[in-house]
Amino acid sequence: MTSAASLVAGIQEFLPCPTPETWVAVALRPDQEPTLLIDHANCEKKAAATALALMHRYIDNPVLLNKMSRLAREELRHFEQVIKIMAARDISYEPLSASRYAQGLHKGVRRQEPGRLIDTLVVGALIEARSCERFARLAPELDRELGEFYLSLLKSEARHYTDYLRLAESLADGGHLADRLAYFRSLEAELVESADTVFRFHSGPVTPQH
Ligand SMILES: [Fe+2]
Ligand SMILES: [Fe+2]
Repeated sequence: MTSAASLVAGIQEFLPCPTPETWVAVALRPDQEPTLLIDHANCEKKAAATALALMHRYIDNPVLLNKMSRLAREELRHFEQVIKIMAARDISYEPLSASRYAQGLHKGVRRQEPGRLIDTLVVGALIEARSCERFARLAPELDRELGEFYLSLLKSEARHYTDYLRLAESLADGGHLADRLAYFRSLEAELVESADTVFRFHSGPVTPQH
């Protein structure tokens, strides 16, 4: 686990803040397990769709095409793994609204290129990093099957974070990228730390009604 621990340490350094313990307490409640898994499945599906959308938009960037193609395949594999666990637990795949998180980050993306791509990649890096941090935080406290699954996801999400960040670095000079990272880090901290209305994998802290 040393390698997983060092991966997570790098991720924690990149993120603006740790996940609030109030979010963790809700995520570990047995009555929230269906929501956690359904939203997790949705996130994997969305991550694959985002990578495919980038592949459609930026056909002139071979590094991006290769990285995103591989990433999309991995996210779809994760999706298959989540729905398999849901089926084994008799959790039916119900429609679930998305959390405010990804949309909140995308609101900060500039409209003009190359800013649009640079910002989208920075947002991708943050989402992957936060996913990795939450898997690491929950894994030791979940049942064995789910805990081992979340630990297994850690490494790919850490690699996805690196892929997004390296792609952003290849397109922006250091000073400019540092500014954009600072901007999106503070936006991310706000979304992660302020009270949210619904519990989701990437939500802020919530107090469920029941
Ligand atoms: Fe994933
Ligand atoms: Fe990922």
